[in-house]
Amino acid sequence: MPLLKGQDHLIRIIKEISGGKYSDEILELTGPGYPPEIQELAEAVGMMMVKIEAREFHLEQLYDRIKLNTLNTVTAVANALGTRDAYSEGHGERVGIYAERLARRLELADDEVERIRIAGTLHDIGKIGFSDQIFSNEDTHINKDMLLEIRSHPQWGYDILKNLEFLGPALEYVFDHHERLDGKGYPRGLSAPDIPLGAQILAVVDCFDAMTTNRPYQKGKTPQEAFAILGDLAGKALDPDLVDTFINEIEDNGLAE
Ligand SMILES: [Fe+2]
Repeated sequence: MPLLKGQDHLIRIIKEISGGKYSDEILELTGPGYPPEIQELAEAVGMMMVKIEAREFHLEQLYDRIKLNTLNTVTAVANALGTRDAYSEGHGERVGIYAERLARRLELADDEVERIRIAGTLHDIGKIGFSDQIFSNEDTHINKDMLLEIRSHPQWGYDILKNLEFLGPALEYVFDHHERLDGKGYPRGLSAPDIPLGAQILAVVDCFDAMTTNRPYQKGKTPQEAFAILGDLAGKALDPDLVDTFINEIEDNGLAE
């Protein structure tokens, strides 16, 4: 049977659509220059394509909403730490803000900046597992058991968050936020090249926020005092370039609210 005009073209477009490639080319075949059979088929395929596209768009939106709601729920859990520990109040959010600012200043890609912000907000969620002994401890004496608990919080955070697929590498940043360049950090004792950049960013800003926050039994340091301490830690615990870039960022744009 001879091919109808446009038949080849139509078959090619249908194959492309089945492969996920949608284009307006199909509209051309609905025009008067083609036999009615081809026009009719092209119209039907065009309608089908529009419906599939609309459904895909709807699914993407739904996925984004589920992601956002899940993230809000987990963030609410992380923020609940503030009810157990006055020092933790607002710490996660500020670390998220500082981490985002440092990541932007480093000109990282937008999705990586977002992952780093999320990891910053959630980094201490594992502290929810601390015993009352740690939260009510107002002196600086820490016994062996308490130290073990403190050093477990990145692992606990990882365990709490590990099933949230959309976190991707942000999960590693939470896990590694207390690692040090010189390998003396915890929980794994990783050293410089093995610590992801996102985790190194968190380490710098976490340290800064911890120092500049007023605690019930200790007034926070001034930014200048904190910069000096970050400078001492640079090259040992923290990456010197990240420290410099972060100090510049704070000098230019100030503290988080
Ligand atoms: Fe921490």
